[in-house]
Amino acid sequence: MTEKTILRALKGEILPTPPIWMMRQAGRFLPEYRTTRAQAGDFLSLCYTSDLAAEVTLQPIRRFGFDAAIVFADILLLPQALGPKLWFAEGEGPRMETTTTPDQVRALRPIDEIHETLAPVYETVRILSRELPRETTLIGFAGAPWTVATYMIAGRGSKDQGAAHVLKAADRATFTAIIDTLTDATVEYLSAQVMAGAEVVKLFDSWAGSLKGADFEDFAVKPSQRIIAELKARHPGLPIIAFPREAGEGYIGFAEKTGADCVALDNSVTPEWAVEHVQKDGCVQGNLSPDHMVTGGEALVRETRRVVDAFRGGPHIFNLGHGITPDGKPENVQLMIDTVRGA
Ligand code: CP3
Repeated sequence: MTEKTILRALKGEILPTPPIWMMRQAGRFLPEYRTTRAQAGDFLSLCYTSDLAAEVTLQPIRRFGFDAAIVFADILLLPQALGPKLWFAEGEGPRMETTTTPDQVRALRPIDEIHETLAPVYETVRILSRELPRETTLIGFAGAPWTVATYMIAGRGSKDQGAAHVLKAADRATFTAIIDTLTDATVEYLSAQVMAGAEVVKLFDSWAGSLKGADFEDFAVKPSQRIIAELKARHPGLPIIAFPREAGEGYIGFAEKTGADCVALDNSVTPEWAVEHVQKDGCVQGNLSPDHMVTGGEALVRETRRVVDAFRGGPHIFNLGHGITPDGKPENVQLMIDTVRGA
Protein backbone atom coordinates (compact mmCIF):
# COMPACT_ATOMS: atom_id res chain seq x y z
CA MET A 1 0.00 0.00 0.00
CA THR A 2 1.30 3.49 -0.80
CA GLU A 3 2.03 5.73 2.15
CA LYS A 4 -0.64 8.13 3.42
CA THR A 5 -0.57 11.51 1.66
CA ILE A 6 -0.22 13.57 4.86
CA LEU A 7 2.82 11.51 5.91
CA ARG A 8 4.35 11.94 2.45
CA ALA A 9 3.93 15.74 2.58
CA LEU A 10 5.42 15.78 6.09
CA LYS A 11 8.51 14.02 4.72
CA GLY A 12 8.90 16.85 2.22
CA GLU A 13 7.29 15.28 -0.83
CA ILE A 14 5.61 17.61 -3.31
CA LEU A 15 2.25 16.10 -4.28
CA PRO A 16 0.18 17.07 -7.33
CA THR A 17 -2.82 17.72 -5.04
CA PRO A 18 -2.17 18.83 -1.47
CA PRO A 19 -3.70 16.64 1.23
CA ILE A 20 -6.35 18.47 3.23
CA TRP A 21 -7.87 18.60 6.71
CA MET A 22 -9.38 21.44 8.70
CA MET A 23 -8.85 22.79 12.23
CA ARG A 24 -12.00 22.24 14.37
CA GLN A 25 -13.34 19.92 11.67
CA ALA A 26 -15.23 18.13 14.45
CA GLY A 27 -17.29 20.96 15.85
CA ARG A 28 -20.48 22.91 16.20
CA PHE A 29 -20.78 23.76 12.47
CA LEU A 30 -21.83 20.11 11.95
CA PRO A 31 -25.39 19.09 12.95
CA GLU A 32 -24.20 15.55 13.71
CA TYR A 33 -21.62 16.98 16.17
CA ARG A 34 -24.34 18.95 17.96
CA THR A 35 -26.42 15.78 18.28
CA THR A 36 -23.57 13.74 19.80
CA ARG A 37 -22.57 16.63 22.08
CA ALA A 38 -26.15 16.80 23.38
CA GLN A 39 -26.02 13.06 24.00
CA ALA A 40 -22.79 13.51 26.02
CA GLY A 41 -24.41 16.33 28.02
CA ASP A 42 -21.56 18.84 27.91
CA PHE A 43 -18.26 19.49 26.15
CA LEU A 44 -15.94 17.97 28.78
CA SER A 45 -18.06 14.82 29.10
CA LEU A 46 -17.77 14.49 25.32
CA CYS A 47 -13.95 14.76 25.56
CA TYR A 48 -13.81 12.09 28.31
CA THR A 49 -16.31 9.62 26.82
CA SER A 50 -14.04 7.78 24.41
CA ASP A 51 -16.64 6.19 22.14
CA LEU A 52 -18.45 9.52 21.67
CA ALA A 53 -15.17 11.44 21.22
CA ALA A 54 -14.17 8.88 18.57
CA GLU A 55 -17.60 9.22 16.95
CA VAL A 56 -17.31 13.03 16.56
CA THR A 57 -13.73 12.65 15.27
CA LEU A 58 -15.04 10.29 12.57
CA GLN A 59 -18.02 12.47 11.54
CA PRO A 60 -16.09 14.93 9.32
CA ILE A 61 -14.12 12.02 7.82
CA ARG A 62 -17.36 10.29 6.79
CA ARG A 63 -18.97 13.47 5.50
CA PHE A 64 -15.99 15.04 3.70
CA GLY A 65 -13.26 12.38 3.37
CA PHE A 66 -10.52 14.58 4.85
CA ASP A 67 -6.99 13.15 4.62
CA ALA A 68 -6.43 13.48 8.39
CA ALA A 69 -8.46 13.13 11.57
CA ILE A 70 -7.46 14.98 14.74
CA VAL A 71 -8.36 13.24 17.98
CA PHE A 72 -11.27 15.00 19.66
CA ALA A 73 -10.03 16.51 22.94
CA ASP A 74 -8.94 19.95 24.16
CA ILE A 75 -5.65 21.64 25.04
CA LEU A 76 -6.98 22.35 28.55
CA LEU A 77 -7.34 18.68 29.53
CA LEU A 78 -3.60 18.51 30.30
CA PRO A 79 -3.56 21.36 32.88
CA GLN A 80 -6.76 19.89 34.33
CA ALA A 81 -4.91 16.57 34.78
CA LEU A 82 -2.27 18.50 36.78
CA GLY A 83 -4.95 19.45 39.34
CA PRO A 84 -6.64 22.81 38.65
CA LYS A 85 -10.41 22.58 38.19
CA LEU A 86 -11.69 23.20 34.64
CA TRP A 87 -15.18 23.95 33.44
CA PHE A 88 -16.80 25.49 30.38
CA ALA A 89 -19.23 28.34 31.01
CA GLU A 90 -21.94 27.75 28.39
CA GLY A 91 -21.57 30.29 25.60
CA GLU A 92 -18.55 31.93 27.27
CA GLY A 93 -15.61 29.55 26.95
CA PRO A 94 -13.21 27.87 29.39
CA ARG A 95 -12.79 28.72 33.08
CA MET A 96 -9.97 27.31 35.20
CA GLU A 97 -8.77 27.54 38.80
CA THR A 98 -5.78 29.88 38.60
CA THR A 99 -2.12 28.94 39.21
CA THR A 100 -0.04 32.02 40.01
CA THR A 101 1.81 31.41 43.32
CA PRO A 102 4.80 29.22 44.28
CA ASP A 103 2.50 27.22 46.61
CA GLN A 104 0.03 26.57 43.80
CA VAL A 105 2.84 25.40 41.52
CA ARG A 106 4.10 23.05 44.26
CA ALA A 107 0.57 21.72 44.70
CA LEU A 108 0.32 20.57 41.06
CA ARG A 109 0.08 16.79 40.74
CA PRO A 110 3.24 14.82 39.87
CA ILE A 111 3.53 14.46 36.09
CA ASP A 112 3.37 10.66 36.13
CA GLU A 113 -0.16 10.93 37.56
CA ILE A 114 -1.61 12.82 34.56
CA HIS A 115 -2.39 9.56 32.76
CA GLU A 116 -5.11 8.70 35.30
CA THR A 117 -7.18 11.67 34.08
CA LEU A 118 -6.10 11.45 30.45
CA ALA A 119 -6.61 7.71 29.94
CA PRO A 120 -9.91 8.29 28.06
CA VAL A 121 -8.04 10.39 25.46
CA TYR A 122 -5.61 7.52 24.86
CA GLU A 123 -8.59 5.17 24.53
CA THR A 124 -10.14 7.53 21.93
CA VAL A 125 -6.86 7.33 19.98
CA ARG A 126 -6.92 3.51 20.16
CA ILE A 127 -10.51 3.34 18.89
CA LEU A 128 -9.66 5.70 16.03
CA SER A 129 -6.59 3.80 14.95
CA ARG A 130 -8.86 0.77 14.50
CA GLU A 131 -11.78 2.56 12.85
CA LEU A 132 -10.32 5.21 10.55
CA PRO A 133 -10.15 4.45 6.82
CA ARG A 134 -6.67 3.15 5.96
CA GLU A 135 -5.75 6.26 3.94
CA THR A 136 -6.57 8.68 6.78
CA THR A 137 -3.78 9.93 9.05
CA LEU A 138 -4.45 10.19 12.80
CA ILE A 139 -3.15 13.36 14.43
CA GLY A 140 -2.70 13.75 18.20
CA PHE A 141 -2.18 17.17 19.78
CA ALA A 142 -1.45 19.32 22.79
CA GLY A 143 -1.29 23.02 23.51
CA ALA A 144 2.20 24.50 23.61
CA PRO A 145 3.33 25.50 27.14
CA TRP A 146 2.91 29.27 26.71
CA THR A 147 -0.64 29.00 25.38
CA VAL A 148 -1.70 26.55 28.09
CA ALA A 149 0.01 28.71 30.75
CA THR A 150 -2.04 31.75 29.67
CA TYR A 151 -5.24 29.87 30.62
CA MET A 152 -3.77 28.48 33.87
CA ILE A 153 -2.62 31.94 34.99
CA ALA A 154 -5.69 33.98 33.97
CA GLY A 155 -8.22 31.24 34.68
CA ARG A 156 -9.84 32.00 31.33
CA GLY A 157 -9.16 33.12 27.79
CA SER A 158 -8.20 36.74 27.19
CA LYS A 159 -7.48 38.90 24.15
CA ASP A 160 -4.03 40.08 25.20
CA GLN A 161 -2.87 37.30 27.61
CA GLY A 162 -2.31 40.15 30.08
CA ALA A 163 -2.25 38.09 33.30
CA ALA A 164 0.47 35.77 31.95
CA HIS A 165 2.58 38.73 30.79
CA VAL A 166 2.19 40.32 34.25
CA LEU A 167 3.29 37.15 36.09
CA LYS A 168 6.22 36.78 33.68
CA ALA A 169 7.38 40.29 34.65
CA ALA A 170 6.51 40.15 38.37
CA ASP A 171 7.61 36.63 39.36
CA ARG A 172 9.82 35.16 36.67
CA ALA A 173 10.68 32.07 38.77
CA THR A 174 7.05 31.04 39.24
CA PHE A 175 6.22 31.75 35.61
CA THR A 176 9.21 29.70 34.44
CA ALA A 177 8.26 26.85 36.78
CA ILE A 178 4.81 26.71 35.16
CA ILE A 179 6.33 26.64 31.66
CA ASP A 180 8.85 23.94 32.65
CA THR A 181 6.17 21.76 34.28
CA LEU A 182 3.98 22.06 31.19
CA THR A 183 6.93 21.28 28.91
CA ASP A 184 7.66 18.02 30.77
CA ALA A 185 3.97 17.09 31.06
CA THR A 186 3.39 17.75 27.34
CA VAL A 187 6.14 15.29 26.43
CA GLU A 188 4.48 12.58 28.54
CA TYR A 189 1.00 13.37 27.21
CA LEU A 190 1.99 13.36 23.53
CA SER A 191 4.20 10.33 23.96
CA ALA A 192 1.24 8.41 25.42
CA GLN A 193 -0.91 9.48 22.44
CA VAL A 194 1.76 8.16 20.08
CA MET A 195 1.94 4.84 21.94
CA ALA A 196 -1.85 4.60 21.61
CA GLY A 197 -1.65 5.08 17.83
CA ALA A 198 -1.30 8.78 16.89
CA GLU A 199 0.83 8.96 13.72
CA VAL A 200 1.58 12.70 13.83
CA VAL A 201 1.39 15.21 16.67
CA LYS A 202 0.64 18.92 16.52
CA LEU A 203 1.54 21.61 19.06
CA PHE A 204 -1.00 24.47 19.19
CA ASP A 205 0.64 27.73 20.30
CA SER A 206 -2.44 29.85 19.65
CA TRP A 207 -1.11 32.88 21.57
CA ALA A 208 2.51 32.77 20.35
CA GLY A 209 1.88 36.09 18.60
CA SER A 210 1.84 38.02 21.87
CA LEU A 211 5.41 36.96 22.74
CA LYS A 212 7.93 39.47 21.41
CA GLY A 213 11.71 39.44 21.01
CA ALA A 214 13.59 37.36 23.59
CA ASP A 215 10.27 36.20 25.10
CA PHE A 216 9.36 34.56 21.79
CA GLU A 217 12.67 32.68 21.82
CA ASP A 218 12.41 31.71 25.50
CA PHE A 219 8.74 30.76 25.70
CA ALA A 220 7.62 29.82 22.16
CA VAL A 221 10.79 28.47 20.51
CA LYS A 222 12.60 26.80 23.42
CA PRO A 223 9.74 24.79 24.97
CA SER A 224 8.70 23.54 21.51
CA GLN A 225 12.30 22.64 20.75
CA ARG A 226 12.59 20.67 24.00
CA ILE A 227 9.30 18.85 23.47
CA ILE A 228 10.12 17.98 19.86
CA ALA A 229 13.67 16.78 20.65
CA GLU A 230 12.43 14.50 23.45
CA LEU A 231 9.52 13.11 21.39
CA LYS A 232 11.82 12.37 18.45
CA ALA A 233 14.29 10.66 20.78
CA ARG A 234 11.51 8.42 22.11
CA HIS A 235 9.71 7.91 18.77
CA PRO A 236 12.24 8.09 15.91
CA GLY A 237 10.68 9.41 12.71
CA LEU A 238 7.57 10.85 14.41
CA PRO A 239 6.37 13.80 12.28
CA ILE A 240 5.52 16.95 14.26
CA ILE A 241 3.55 20.03 13.20
CA ALA A 242 4.10 23.30 15.09
CA PHE A 243 1.55 26.13 15.03
CA PRO A 244 3.01 29.34 16.49
CA ARG A 245 -0.12 31.30 15.56
CA GLU A 246 0.35 34.94 14.55
CA ALA A 247 4.12 34.66 15.00
CA GLY A 248 4.63 36.88 11.92
CA GLU A 249 8.38 37.24 11.40
CA GLY A 250 8.74 34.56 14.09
CA TYR A 251 7.66 31.99 11.50
CA ILE A 252 11.00 32.53 9.76
CA GLY A 253 13.36 29.73 10.81
CA PHE A 254 10.84 28.28 13.29
CA ALA A 255 11.02 24.76 11.82
CA GLU A 256 14.79 24.73 11.88
CA LYS A 257 15.03 26.14 15.42
CA THR A 258 12.46 23.75 16.91
CA GLY A 259 12.98 20.65 14.76
CA ALA A 260 9.34 20.66 13.60
CA ASP A 261 8.64 18.88 10.31
CA CYS A 262 5.93 21.33 9.33
CA VAL A 263 4.91 24.83 10.33
CA ALA A 264 1.20 25.62 10.33
CA LEU A 265 0.41 29.14 9.17
CA ASP A 266 -2.42 31.41 10.26
CA ASN A 267 -4.07 33.65 7.68
CA SER A 268 -2.43 36.90 8.84
CA VAL A 269 0.48 36.05 6.52
CA THR A 270 -0.03 35.81 2.77
CA PRO A 271 0.75 32.52 1.03
CA GLU A 272 3.19 34.37 -1.27
CA TRP A 273 5.16 35.68 1.75
CA ALA A 274 5.13 32.24 3.36
CA VAL A 275 6.44 30.53 0.21
CA GLU A 276 9.45 32.79 0.23
CA HIS A 277 10.17 32.83 3.97
CA VAL A 278 8.83 29.58 5.44
CA GLN A 279 8.14 26.92 2.80
CA LYS A 280 11.72 27.26 1.55
CA ASP A 281 12.69 25.30 4.69
CA GLY A 282 10.11 22.51 4.39
CA CYS A 283 6.47 21.54 4.65
CA VAL A 284 3.86 24.17 5.53
CA GLN A 285 0.21 23.80 6.47
CA GLY A 286 -2.52 26.36 5.85
CA ASN A 287 -3.73 28.96 5.41
CA LEU A 288 -7.16 29.92 4.04
CA SER A 289 -9.14 32.32 6.22
CA PRO A 290 -11.93 30.49 8.10
CA ASP A 291 -14.22 33.41 7.19
CA HIS A 292 -14.63 31.83 3.74
CA MET A 293 -16.43 28.91 5.41
CA VAL A 294 -19.12 31.44 6.39
CA THR A 295 -19.23 33.53 3.22
CA GLY A 296 -18.51 30.96 0.47
CA GLY A 297 -19.02 31.83 -3.19
CA GLU A 298 -16.50 32.98 -5.76
CA ALA A 299 -14.18 34.54 -3.20
CA LEU A 300 -13.82 31.15 -1.50
CA VAL A 301 -12.93 29.48 -4.80
CA ARG A 302 -10.50 32.24 -5.80
CA GLU A 303 -8.68 32.33 -2.45
CA THR A 304 -8.56 28.52 -2.17
CA ARG A 305 -6.91 28.37 -5.62
CA ARG A 306 -4.54 31.15 -4.61
CA VAL A 307 -3.34 29.13 -1.59
CA VAL A 308 -2.97 25.92 -3.61
CA ASP A 309 -1.16 27.67 -6.48
CA ALA A 310 1.19 29.64 -4.23
CA PHE A 311 2.38 26.54 -2.34
CA ARG A 312 2.48 24.23 -5.37
CA GLY A 313 6.27 24.30 -5.67
CA GLY A 314 6.93 22.76 -2.23
CA PRO A 315 5.48 20.40 0.36
CA HIS A 316 2.06 21.61 1.52
CA ILE A 317 -0.90 20.41 3.58
CA PHE A 318 -4.01 22.46 2.86
CA ASN A 319 -5.85 23.79 5.95
CA LEU A 320 -7.52 26.90 7.28
CA GLY A 321 -5.50 29.57 9.10
CA HIS A 322 -7.52 28.92 12.28
CA GLY A 323 -10.46 26.75 13.35
CA ILE A 324 -13.76 26.86 11.49
CA THR A 325 -16.32 28.88 13.46
CA PRO A 326 -19.74 27.51 14.51
CA ASP A 327 -21.44 29.63 11.79
CA GLY A 328 -19.34 27.98 9.03
CA LYS A 329 -21.47 26.17 6.44
CA PRO A 330 -20.89 22.51 5.54
CA GLU A 331 -21.57 23.28 1.85
CA ASN A 332 -18.75 25.84 1.85
CA VAL A 333 -16.39 23.25 3.35
CA GLN A 334 -17.36 20.91 0.52
CA LEU A 335 -16.73 23.66 -2.04
CA MET A 336 -13.26 24.26 -0.57
CA ILE A 337 -12.44 20.54 -0.76
CA ASP A 338 -13.72 20.24 -4.34
CA THR A 339 -11.67 23.29 -5.32
CA VAL A 340 -8.48 21.91 -3.73
CA ARG A 341 -8.93 18.48 -5.26
CA GLY A 342 -10.00 19.80 -8.66
CA ALA A 343 -7.42 22.57 -8.91
O1 CP3 B 1 -11.51 19.23 15.57
C1 CP3 B 1 -10.52 19.63 16.20
O2 CP3 B 1 -9.84 20.61 15.84
C2 CP3 B 1 -10.04 18.80 17.39
C3 CP3 B 1 -10.43 19.19 18.68
C4 CP3 B 1 -9.95 20.49 19.29
C5 CP3 B 1 -10.78 21.27 20.15
N1 CP3 B 1 -10.04 22.25 20.69
C6 CP3 B 1 -12.20 21.00 20.40
C7 CP3 B 1 -13.05 22.08 20.93
C8 CP3 B 1 -8.70 21.11 19.29
C9 CP3 B 1 -7.46 20.75 18.50
C10 CP3 B 1 -8.77 22.21 20.20
C11 CP3 B 1 -7.62 23.09 20.52
C12 CP3 B 1 -7.82 24.24 21.39
N2 CP3 B 1 -8.63 24.37 22.48
C13 CP3 B 1 -7.08 25.45 21.28
C14 CP3 B 1 -6.00 25.70 20.26
C15 CP3 B 1 -6.52 26.00 18.92
C16 CP3 B 1 -7.24 27.32 18.81
O3 CP3 B 1 -8.47 27.27 18.60
O4 CP3 B 1 -6.59 28.36 18.94
C17 CP3 B 1 -7.53 26.32 22.29
C18 CP3 B 1 -7.04 27.73 22.54
C19 CP3 B 1 -8.50 25.61 23.06
C20 CP3 B 1 -9.22 26.07 24.28
C21 CP3 B 1 -10.67 26.19 24.03
N3 CP3 B 1 -11.50 25.11 23.86
C22 CP3 B 1 -11.44 27.37 23.91
C23 CP3 B 1 -10.88 28.79 24.01
C24 CP3 B 1 -12.75 26.97 23.68
C25 CP3 B 1 -13.97 27.86 23.61
C26 CP3 B 1 -14.07 28.54 22.29
C27 CP3 B 1 -15.13 27.91 21.47
O5 CP3 B 1 -14.87 27.67 20.27
O6 CP3 B 1 -16.22 27.67 22.02
C28 CP3 B 1 -12.78 25.57 23.61
C29 CP3 B 1 -13.95 24.71 23.34
C30 CP3 B 1 -13.84 23.72 22.23
N4 CP3 B 1 -12.76 22.92 21.97
C31 CP3 B 1 -14.88 23.38 21.32
C32 CP3 B 1 -14.39 22.36 20.51
C33 CP3 B 1 -15.12 21.62 19.42
C34 CP3 B 1 -16.27 23.99 21.32
C35 CP3 B 1 -16.99 23.37 22.50
C36 CP3 B 1 -18.44 23.08 22.31
O7 CP3 B 1 -18.82 22.08 21.67
O8 CP3 B 1 -19.20 23.86 22.89
